[in-house]
Amino acid sequence: MEEKRPTWTSRYTFMLAAIGSAVGLGNIWRFPYIMGQYGGAVFLVVYLTLIMTICFVPLMAELYLGKHTKKECIGAYESVSPKLKPLGALNPVTGVLIASFYFIVGGWIINYITKSFCMSCHCDYAQYFSDFIAEPVYPCVLTLAFLFMCIFFTAKGVKKGIEFANKVLMPLFAVILLILVIFSLNLPNAYLGLEYMFKPDLTKVTPQMVLAALGQAFFTLSIGMGALLTYGSYIDEDKNITKSVYTIILSDTAFAILAGIMIFPAVFSFNLEPSSGAGLVFITLPKIFAQLPFGNLVSFAFFVLLFCAAVTSGISILEAPCATLIEQFKISRIKSCAILFGIISLIAIPATLSFGLLNKYTLFNKTIFDFLDFTTSNILLPLNTLILCLIAGWMLKLDGRKFFTNRVLIFMFNICLKFIVPSALISLLYIGLRN
Ligand code: TRP
Repeated sequence: MEEKRPTWTSRYTFMLAAIGSAVGLGNIWRFPYIMGQYGGAVFLVVYLTLIMTICFVPLMAELYLGKHTKKECIGAYESVSPKLKPLGALNPVTGVLIASFYFIVGGWIINYITKSFCMSCHCDYAQYFSDFIAEPVYPCVLTLAFLFMCIFFTAKGVKKGIEFANKVLMPLFAVILLILVIFSLNLPNAYLGLEYMFKPDLTKVTPQMVLAALGQAFFTLSIGMGALLTYGSYIDEDKNITKSVYTIILSDTAFAILAGIMIFPAVFSFNLEPSSGAGLVFITLPKIFAQLPFGNLVSFAFFVLLFCAAVTSGISILEAPCATLIEQFKISRIKSCAILFGIISLIAIPATLSFGLLNKYTLFNKTIFDFLDFTTSNILLPLNTLILCLIAGWMLKLDGRKFFTNRVLIFMFNICLKFIVPSALISLLYIGLRN
């Protein structure tokens, strides 16, 4: 039976879902640790410049392609030219691969939520984390549990599932974030964290940092795997998407900065290292929670916050491959979700085990998890975005006049779409492949 194409209830629910997709682990987990690795404020300046000047271009192109064709990725590319079908298919494939490692981190979050009330302050948090992720069974169960939760909302459909989840989880996320920000700002020496975030030393800008900022910007805006194309294809009314794009970008950036304001004052207040990398959230923060008044409660609130952000993004990662299965193979949403659950589990379980049982098995010198993270973030996402810009700029001849009336903005948009963003993406790909 062929399903009727879903649509959003209103422009508001579409924006909420798009912001829910953008605001995720990328903001709360990845952004602070990458900012920490690249020296704080200077990274923030580069990141803000890039996100406000060039990153909105592919975001607009992706939403436009979905809204204009009213099709999922493969169908949308095919309607530009039938030859583009395989390139369109690369989007849902990337989605499945991203899901396979994103949901593993989702599983870790569930563990930390449940452990919030029983971790003691004498625990060696680094050891605890590496022991936990190396366990053979529990992390796999949690990965599947997290996948199941997200796919449950996807299976319920756009209005009853995706919109509902975002309407409940996003406000909860925002409230917890604000409370934790206020709490963190009231810690002793909190100003050191703010100084670290907002006092840039611009002599420290490096090309490597610019590319890291660019990669982070594309990841956090969910560009490059058809999630937003699919969300855009459910827009019913014929409104201009420019305002929505700016709302998405501004909210996403505001949430990333607030996440920084929540994390760095606490890190500095306890004299810890801001540049500890991926372990910042799972090792450094629990160490801080253990020493705080009401630390268990703060820890619980923080991981619930992370959970809300991860679920709403996880749902968006699933929607693109799900819509592709529904529309290309003419199967029901439930069946398509069941198939996705099977495929993602098959990849995610070995990836989860790659921290312990399977850590000897490597692909190109990387464990399965690192390989998935690396190929998706550094190769497939920029590649898909590059293809999207080339199609929109050169084949569809998407013109800035569709979005702006100001001549400078129109000119900037066209130049960015055709030349600047593709060159930046080629540099990203080059660096990614060389590594
Ligand atoms: N943007 C999300 C985050 O910041 C992750 C995400 C959701 C994503 N959908 C995506 C990343 C599509 C790339 C492509 O965590």
